[in-house]
This record gives sequence, C-alpha cells and structure tokens, in this order.
Amino acid sequence: ELERDLVGRDILVTAGGTREPIDPVRFLGNRSSGKQGVALAQRAAERGADVTLLAANIEVPVPDNVHVVRVSSAEQLAAACAELAPRHDTIIMAAAVADFRPEHVQTGKIKKESTGEELTLTFKKNPDILRNMVATRVPGQTIVGFAAETEEDDAARLEIARAKIKRKGCDYLVLNRVGWDHGFGREETEVQVLNLEGDVVQEAVGDKTSVANAILDVVRARD
Ligand code: C5P
Repeated sequence: ELERDLVGRDILVTAGGTREPIDPVRFLGNRSSGKQGVALAQRAAERGADVTLLAANIEVPVPDNVHVVRVSSAEQLAAACAELAPRHDTIIMAAAVADFRPEHVQTGKIKKESTGEELTLTFKKNPDILRNMVATRVPGQTIVGFAAETEEDDAARLEIARAKIKRKGCDYLVLNRVGWDHGFGREETEVQVLNLEGDVVQEAVGDKTSVANAILDVVRARD
C-alpha cells in the first residue's frame, strides 16, 4: 500500500457529469456521480502523482490531496481542459459529458403557461473534448477515455468500444457497463481497458478504488 510509483507524474482527471442549462433554474444532466473519477484522482495522488481533479457536479466529497477545479457544463469543461491539459502528462477523461446542449438558453424560467401541452427544445452538438485533447496533445502525453455503454451483450459492448477508441484516437479506453442498475452511482464496478489496437490490456472488478488502481497500473506501465 505504500508504493509511490507515480511520483513525478502530473495527472488531470475529469469526473462527474455535465449539466447543460435550459433556463436559469433547469438543466439537462446525467446520472454520473463522479465516484470513479474521484477514486482515480485520490489513488493517483496517494501513489505520488500531482493531481488536478476537474469536477463536474460530483456527488461525493473531494479528496484533500488533489487540486480541484469545478465546472458545470460541457463548454466550461472544454475550456478548463484546454487550459489545464498542456501541463499534465496524463489526462483521464472519466466525466460523462453531454453530447448535446439546448441551443437557446432561456434568460427567464420557462413557464408552463407559455406553451401548450408540449414543449419542444432543440439541441446543438457539444464539442468532443476527448477528441480535441488528442488533436492538441503535447508529445508524450497519455490520454485515457471512458465508454459507458448500455448494451447487455459483452461482445457487443466490446465492438462498440473498439470502434470508439479508433474514432477518438486516445491511448486507452475504459469500457464499463451502465444502465438502470449498473455503473453510475454504484459502489461496485467492472471495467475492461482497451488499447488503440482494440486489445483488452486490463480487466478489473470490484469497488471503484481497486478499479482505479488497475486503471492507474495501465497508465503507469506506459512509460
Ligand atoms: O462518445 P462518448 O460520449 O461515448 O465518449 C466517452 C468519452 O469521451 C469519455 O471519456 C468522455 O469524457 C469523452 N467525451 C468528451 N466530450 C464529449 C463527449 C464525450 O470528451 N462531448
């Protein structure tokens, strides 16, 4: 437990889930609690790394051994990532980022009296932060993405993850199953880590701290 095998490393971890504003009092969000990202940040710091936790609406306390930057929306997360990425050798994108945001943020609260029986919102695609990180990476940087997929079939999830890592171009992709009773918010998790070739290089089951350790072993082994 005393191994300090990440001394000298600067690691950026995004955690939680973005909230996309609809009006001053409402948002579109997701059920990511931030537990896995926070466990990664905490364990990386305990293993000696200098860690920045980029926290998007996390439901768990922040560890006291990491630098914390708080954001809420995907656009804020993108801006913070662009600013912080260059001074980190490893970027772990555990946050669940909304793929779309409401096209127009209403300046006042939407009132039910102002619409009929239906309300239509239009959405705009958010920037893919992970892809942008890969496109602007500094030499030697290790970039890890996450893929939370709902497919029940293991082989189907793996195929989706293989296509995803090729599309994103990151070094590793952490695949986990999410759904009504898997993944987000839970204490226990099960992941597979794929490399850019699509090979499974690590598998882990257990609480989010032990899974964090297994993911960090992959990150560490690369250098
Ligand atoms: O495409 P998908 O959302 O499944 O990809 C998940 C990975 O990409 C996660 O690492 C997530 O943090 C990242 N992502 C991103 N920007 C987005 C959407 C996802 O960085 N707009």
